[in-house]
Amino acid sequence: MYYPDELVEEVRMKSDIVDVISGYVKIQKKGSSYFGLCPFHNEKSPSFSVSQGKQMYYCFGCGAGGNVFTFLMEYENYSFPEAVKALAERAGVNLPEAEYNEEARKKESRRTKLLEVNKEAAKYFFYQLRRGQGQAGYQYLKKRQLSDETIHKFGLGFANVTSDDLTRYLKSKGYEDKLIQEAGLATFDEKYGMHDKFWNRVMFPIQDINHRVIGFGGRVMGDAKPKYLNSPETMIFDKSRNLYGLNFARTARTNNIILCEGYMDVIAMHQAGFTQAAASLGTAFTAGQANLLRRYVQEVILAYDSDGAGVNAALRAIGILKEVGLTGKVLNLEPYKDPDEFIKNLGQDAFKERIKQAENSFFFELRMLQKDYDLNDPESKTRFHREIAKKLCGFSEEVERENYIEAVAQKYHIGFDNLRKLVVSYASQTGLAAPAVRPKSGIQKKNDPKENLKKPQKLLLTWLVEEPGVYQKIKKYISPSDFTEDLYKKIAEKLFADLESGSINPAAIISLFTDEEQQREAASVFNTKLALLNTRADQEKAFHDIVVAVKRNSLEYFSSQLGTDVLALGQVIEGKKALEELSKTHISLD
Ligand code: GTP
Ligand code: MN
Repeated sequence: MYYPDELVEEVRMKSDIVDVISGYVKIQKKGSSYFGLCPFHNEKSPSFSVSQGKQMYYCFGCGAGGNVFTFLMEYENYSFPEAVKALAERAGVNLPEAEYNEEARKKESRRTKLLEVNKEAAKYFFYQLRRGQGQAGYQYLKKRQLSDETIHKFGLGFANVTSDDLTRYLKSKGYEDKLIQEAGLATFDEKYGMHDKFWNRVMFPIQDINHRVIGFGGRVMGDAKPKYLNSPETMIFDKSRNLYGLNFARTARTNNIILCEGYMDVIAMHQAGFTQAAASLGTAFTAGQANLLRRYVQEVILAYDSDGAGVNAALRAIGILKEVGLTGKVLNLEPYKDPDEFIKNLGQDAFKERIKQAENSFFFELRMLQKDYDLNDPESKTRFHREIAKKLCGFSEEVERENYIEAVAQKYHIGFDNLRKLVVSYASQTGLAAPAVRPKSGIQKKNDPKENLKKPQKLLLTWLVEEPGVYQKIKKYISPSDFTEDLYKKIAEKLFADLESGSINPAAIISLFTDEEQQREAASVFNTKLALLNTRADQEKAFHDIVVAVKRNSLEYFSSQLGTDVLALGQVIEGKKALEELSKTHISLD
C-alpha cells in the first residue's frame, strides 16, 4: 500500500516530533533543542537530540536520525506504511484502508504458516536424532563434545538418509507441497516428485530473537561438500537481519556480544558459559545485523577465524560496527583457528582472559595496515603515518579524535604535534573531517570512486541546510541537475524549491523516500556537523572547493552522456562556462 504524498505530509504535520518522542524517551529542553538518552544505543550522557523547529531527531553518539516516521520505524521496527498508519491513528487522520488490510492479512497468514511448518520440521529433526537412523548424528555431536543439555538447548536434530521422509511427515500433518517448498524444506523434480532438501545431515534450527524457527543449517558429518547447507531466504528468513544464537545472547546480561563466524562456535561458547555469543548466517556481517545488535549492546567483540579470510571479514565487520555507532574489539584466538577449537584446547578461563584482552578495533586495523609497510624504510614509514592520519580523520568528534591521536602517537612513537598537524592537513584537504554517516547497505569501500563523487554533493546540501543564506550565492552556478546521485538530486529539487520560496522543511524532504535506508541517508544530510574548520577564510575555501567539485563532477557526467542524451550538450556547455567562472570567483559566506 502506497499512501499519497499529501496524506503522508498531513500525518507528519499533525504529529509533533517532540510529542511523539516524549512518549518513548525522556527528553529535556536545552537551548533550541531537546536532549535525552539515545534509545538506539547504550549511553550514560545524553547525546540524542530532538529539534522542534526541524521536526527531526539526531543522535550525536551513534548517528541515528530522521523524522517522526523514521523514529517509529527504528523504535518499533515498523515498515514505513505501518509507521504512517500508527501516527495517523494517533493524530486522527483517516487513511484509505481496505486493500491494505486484505493484502496484509494474506501476507501475515502466509508468514504464520511458514513459521508453523518450520517448527514442525524442527521437531521432526529433533526427534530423529534420538532414533535409530539418527545415531550417526548423535554420535557426531558427542564427538564434537556437545552435552545433551547443549543439544537440547539449541534444538539440534538430524535429517535422515531417506530422501522424502520429512516431506511425507509434513504432508501427513496437513501441510501442502507448495508451502513445504516455499519454506525451502523440499524441492520438486519432474522425475522424482517432492524430495527433502536436507539429507543425512545434523540440523541446526535457526531462530529469530523470539525463539521462532525461521530456517535451518545442515552440516555433513564427514568431509563431504558442501559442509553446510542452509535454508534459502524466505518471507520469514532474511539472512541479513538475523543472527544465530541472538535469541539467547540478547538476554545474557553482559555488556557485550561476541560475534563469530560459525554455528559450532556459537554453540561451543554458550556451552562454556559465554552465552553472549552470536554468528551471522553463512553470509558476511551486514548493517542490518549491526543495527539489531545496537538494540542490546554498545560493544561487539569479534571472534572471527584467525586465518586471512577471517581477518578480512573482521576488518569489514569493524567498518560496519563503526558506521552504526557500536564499539568494536577483536579477540585474539592464536594459535587456534576459531573459538570452538580454542575452548576445546585451552578451556574457558583462558578464553575469558582473551576476552579481557580483546584489542581496540582501531588498533587492530592499524596493526593489519602496518603489514603492508616496512617501518625500517623512512619512505614507507612516512606513507604509513600518512595513512594513519587519514584514518584518524574518520573520528568526527573532536575529543575522541584528540584521544586517538594521543594514543596512536604514543604507540607508534610519532610526535604528538607532528601527527596532529598531519591530521589537520588531511582534514582541510578534504574540506572537513569525515562526518558520521550511517550505512546505506553494508559497508561502503573507503576508496570507492563513487563515494568520492557523492561526498561533495552531500556536503553541499548539508551546507545549504545549515546556512540557507549561501543559496543566493551559488544558485547561479548550481542547479538540481548537477546532482548526479539520484537520492541527492531528489533532495536538491525539493530543497532548492524550498530555498527559493524562503522556508525549508527538512522533515518533509525525508518523507519523499519510503525506503528506510534512503530515509536514513537523507536524514544524515541534515545532521552532518560541518566542524573542524575554525576560520571563516578556511570555511570559504572549503565551500568553494565543494561547489567546484560538484560542478566538475556534473560536467564530467554530462560529457560522458554526450551522444546518448540530447540535453547533455546544453549541460556541458553551461557547465564549462560555470566552472571557468567559479574557479576565478571568490564566494563569500557572509
Ligand atoms: P565446523 O567446521 O563444524 O566447526 O563448523 P563451523 O561452524 O566452525 O564452520 P566454518 O568456520 O567452516 O564456517 C563458518 C560458517 O560459514 C558456518 O557456520 C556456516 O554458516 C558457513 N559455511 C561454512 N561452510 C559452508 C558451506 O559449504 N556452505 C554454506 N552455504 N555455508 C557454509
Ligand atoms: Mn569450526
